[in-house]
Amino acid sequence: MSPVTERTPVHLPSGVSLEQVNGTEALVINTPAARAVLHLDGAHLTSWTPAGEQDVLWLSELSEYGDGAAIRGGIPLVGPWFGPGRSGDKPVKHGWIRNHPWELTEASFDGKDVVLELALVDADPSGGGLRADARFRIGAELSVDLTLTAGAQEVEVEAALHTYLAVADVRELRIHGLQGADYLDNTQGLAEDRQEDTALELTGPTDRIYSVNSEVRIEDVAGGRSIVSCPRGTAKTVVWNPWPELAAGMADMPDDAWTSFVCVEPAVAKESAQVLRSGGALTIGVTYRVER
Ligand code: BG6
Repeated sequence: MSPVTERTPVHLPSGVSLEQVNGTEALVINTPAARAVLHLDGAHLTSWTPAGEQDVLWLSELSEYGDGAAIRGGIPLVGPWFGPGRSGDKPVKHGWIRNHPWELTEASFDGKDVVLELALVDADPSGGGLRADARFRIGAELSVDLTLTAGAQEVEVEAALHTYLAVADVRELRIHGLQGADYLDNTQGLAEDRQEDTALELTGPTDRIYSVNSEVRIEDVAGGRSIVSCPRGTAKTVVWNPWPELAAGMADMPDDAWTSFVCVEPAVAKESAQVLRSGGALTIGVTYRVER
């Protein structure tokens, strides 16, 4: 983890530039291996397009940006709690780290990949001093790692990489790697259920927290490609799509856009939440690749 120094400008290597995107500051990556957009607000990657591919991340054309907004799409970094938190009464859904501007601490090349590190310090509204760090490795594959480090106070944390994957039609997916897994169904008051021994096919509003920490392959049948999600340091895989009834109530998403994405989210949540003592850290991560 790189220290955050007082506004020391980080040198940007060629292929990386700081630009205004949708009215806010973002790092724009354009290399032979990939193109990507990483907003400083929320350390939020909104686009990753490996060479020869279409964007792997979905982004709402009605998303809000700036000043505490949560960008709708891309990879929201979620923490230090998931959803309304384990107690169910947290004031901000999915925690506060996605609602603050982060600071770039490192930008470099490692082979053909761009490596970007960002930090969020002194933003913990509880006064507990929790810090967040994120590391992105952007190339033919994409790796994202999120670390939450407790400050002076002990704290229980949840975390997730709330990735919106772009698909041709969410109704024509086969999601492999969840077979036989237990899950909590958030459309049924967190009722316990179990996935059949078949790939998951979405047929209605889906909001499930699977007890799965291994590779998941999203077979985009209509799009002719698979996106492989390889998590690390996690305990859960959340699968979410609002379907039209819930999408219609979301102002930052066009009514018909729900068909174009599925959220598959590596997470530490619910009973897998971790208690961090002062200085203790939780790191979760994921690597994505596209297969044709
Ligand atoms: C998912 C949750 O991770 O995120 C859903 O499981 C939630 O319950 C969805 O509705 C979207 O959350 P938000 O806060 O980004 O609208």
